Amino acid sequence: MNIIDGKQLAANLRAEIAAGVKALKEEKGITPGLAVILVGNNPASVSYVTAKEKACTEAGMYSREIRLPETTTEEELVKLVKDLNVDPAIHGILVQLPVPKHIRDKAVIDAIAPEKDVDGFTPINVGKMLIGEKCFLPCTPHGIIKLIEFSGMDIKGKHAVVVGRSNIVGKPVAVLLARKETNATVTLCHTGTPDIARFTKEADIVVVAAGRPNTVTGDMLKPGAVVIDVGVNRIPDDTKPKGFRLVGDADFDSCAKVAGAITPVPGGVGPMTITMLLWNTLKSANG
Ligand code: GUN
Repeated sequence: MNIIDGKQLAANLRAEIAAGVKALKEEKGITPGLAVILVGNNPASVSYVTAKEKACTEAGMYSREIRLPETTTEEELVKLVKDLNVDPAIHGILVQLPVPKHIRDKAVIDAIAPEKDVDGFTPINVGKMLIGEKCFLPCTPHGIIKLIEFSGMDIKGKHAVVVGRSNIVGKPVAVLLARKETNATVTLCHTGTPDIARFTKEADIVVVAAGRPNTVTGDMLKPGAVVIDVGVNRIPDDTKPKGFRLVGDADFDSCAKVAGAITPVPGGVGPMTITMLLWNTLKSANG
């Protein structure tokens, strides 16, 4: 059994990205700039945006951190995004989701200029991805494809089962896996699927992004399957300094006994999401 080291793959790619940033500065005098907006102080979101900003700076990019109070209005946030759309120092705009309930995700995402949408969340980029046009691919799904390839599996012709149909992960990863380049056969399971195990037992690749611990356990897997665990769940644990530990959506111990390869949580998908964000920001700055 192989533990797929997301940190290692991320480090390899970030070295390439840093070299690309250096070259762009030297050749064209352009420093890629990423604006990261966080509204409110949801603890998980604070930790994600801090990691994104740090990675951005480490790659030699310009990171503009914008922290706004929970009471920010939709109009204020949309106005800020529109200002960033025309700011020449900014090549990528990321609004950390979820935003507070009084703000509509859709209003904010629709305000982002597609050419600065390094999350790949705008309808234009989602649509282009679906029909196979050049676009910003969403970071977590793109990172997942890289992780499966890094595990040594040739995706072509394999059966991939995706568990979860979110707009951020489940739906787009199903689309990417089914593209001609990757050529997997894809089954998309969700909360309306009566017997998920029936499908995962047939899968060569299982991507679990359900937002719930123990969604996939070892008895639900075919021996040798590659398991990509997208879950990040905080479980209260007094023995840990922060008072919690992180677990994924797959039960790691039982899955590791059956799988051929599996991503750990933390240290699997998370570092790759951030890496693909840097990738898109560099791509945007390159024009
Ligand atoms: N919330 C959870 N994942 C993501 C992500 O990839 N981008 C943004 N903006 N918000 C998120």
